[in-house]
Amino acid sequence: MSGNALIISPQTIPDRFVSVISGLCRVAADLSLTIARGSLGQSLGAAVGQNADGDGQKALDVLADEAFSAVLKDCSVRWYASEEQEEVIELDPSGTFALAIDPLDGSSNIDVNVSIGTIFSIYEAYEDPIQSFLRKASDQIAAGYFIYGPQTALVVTFGAGVLHFTLHPESRCFELANSSVNVPARSSEYAINASNYRHWSQPVRAFIDDCIAGSEGPRDKEFNMRWIASLVAETHRIMSRGGVFLYPSDGRAGYENGRLRMVYECAPIAMLIEQAGGGATDGCDAILGQSAASLHARTPFVFGSLEKVERVAAYHDLPENEVSALFGSRGLFRA
Ligand code: F6P
Ligand code: MN
Repeated sequence: MSGNALIISPQTIPDRFVSVISGLCRVAADLSLTIARGSLGQSLGAAVGQNADGDGQKALDVLADEAFSAVLKDCSVRWYASEEQEEVIELDPSGTFALAIDPLDGSSNIDVNVSIGTIFSIYEAYEDPIQSFLRKASDQIAAGYFIYGPQTALVVTFGAGVLHFTLHPESRCFELANSSVNVPARSSEYAINASNYRHWSQPVRAFIDDCIAGSEGPRDKEFNMRWIASLVAETHRIMSRGGVFLYPSDGRAGYENGRLRMVYECAPIAMLIEQAGGGATDGCDAILGQSAASLHARTPFVFGSLEKVERVAAYHDLPENEVSALFGSRGLFRA
């Protein structure tokens, strides 16, 4: 492991974040090498246990968590909250940041050579470890993700737009690729795990029914569906060419609030998407106006091109007879 990956354009990073972002980049560059070795290296996708929330843990989940917590000790991070750990950990008592992390997102894709990622979120540290994270998502001072795919990239916001860096494979530096990422306002793509259709609420079914009906339905246009099962990869696609992602609440036990975690996944993705001009809600209300009730709490999540996210919210406002009848008179939703 080289251990020396640096962002090549530190002038694009506010001074107080240079150390923590450089630390994250060092680990991400090393992880990207480990992932690229695949089965030539250690067994990354082997099941090793369960995390605090009962999710299966893979070897790479644990390896990534250990690597990030070890490096972030020297990067002004006081409180470290990881999806892989039950409790908040104190890294540096004099640190000023509280950092939440999903060290390895999309772990079901580790063994099949499909893009996976790391998601992080930064707040000003309070004295209280838990309260440093159970606060409005709009309190975040930075958020970002690394994607490990055909390219390894960092997409990050410090509250003034979104920056995109690509890891140069030879120099192992993250080079600025786009200083102003914008989510396209309109798109005809949607992403949802459609195998859960029978468990969804009527408004979500109605929205998807109308997309599937295409030019023969009330929307009078064709749509395209994608589902990668890596939140980071779906986010990266939406950052690049727009669209909408939905992981709604559903009727299965344990899915009352969907699947995704507020602190480690939805809050940081919502900040990034809003900073790039898109929208992010729980189906109805903005994620940035909400706080997690507990460290590992889940929330329904809808994000992407603003027009689409607003449309999903509008379906939730329709009267019962409109969302339950096949198309009802949803002609008002044309286009
Ligand atoms: O972290 C949870 C996660 O793996 C996300 O990366 C992804 O969007 C989702 O779960 C996949 O859910 P499902 O297993 O329902 O396809
Ligand atoms: Mn995840």
